[in-house]
Amino acid sequence: MDTYLAPSILSADFARLRDEVAAVVEAGADWIHFDVMDNHYVPNLTIGPMVCQALRKHCTVPIDVHLMVRPVDALATLFAEAGADLISFHPDASTHVDRSLQLIRAAGCKAGLAFNPATPLDVLEWVIDKVDLVLIMSVNPGFGGQSFIESALRKVERARRLIDASGRPIRLEVDGGIKVDNIRRVADAGADTFVAGSAIFGQRDYRGVIAAMREQLAR
Ligand code: DX5
Ligand code: ZN
Repeated sequence: MDTYLAPSILSADFARLRDEVAAVVEAGADWIHFDVMDNHYVPNLTIGPMVCQALRKHCTVPIDVHLMVRPVDALATLFAEAGADLISFHPDASTHVDRSLQLIRAAGCKAGLAFNPATPLDVLEWVIDKVDLVLIMSVNPGFGGQSFIESALRKVERARRLIDASGRPIRLEVDGGIKVDNIRRVADAGADTFVAGSAIFGQRDYRGVIAAMREQLAR
């Protein structure tokens, strides 16, 4: 599978969100990672389906919605209607994980499961046929700019084995604390899709950071 870079707009300038999305796509982003927080599942509050809908018409790449919300189903439906391409949620935030996955796919989106640093991958065994994306959190969800948690690498390796054994084209995404200087190690553990917020939006030259990340991945 090709490697994808998914800049998280959590670290973008929210007063200029449309321009920020355009700039990062122009700089080479494969997906836009869209972090949704509800001040309930995580201790922060961000953006909802209206903002997704507003950006959709200005965004030429897939929108990768990461739901950090509880409950899941109603918001997942609203994001599908708002033009999301992929929707991931945390299994521990859904009462019926299988139902939430089916609902996202029935709405025409790819469905993902997101795992916190201390959350085991157990549920994957039972729903891997309904999953298009596995998202391994390498920070505790809620904020950009945190440091990478090393144990995530072992979990990425384990997720890679489960995905390969399934034989299905499931993307393996890692989210949190990814920078130019650690992206190669994350790729070596088996990831093919990389979220980066502060590493990209914290710099003036988005193209330069994205090129440096791709250079690491090509090594
Ligand atoms: C954290 C979010 C991440 C975050 C990543 O809850 O899910 O997507 O924006 O930001 P960095 O790359 O700064 O860790
Ligand atoms: Zn995220």
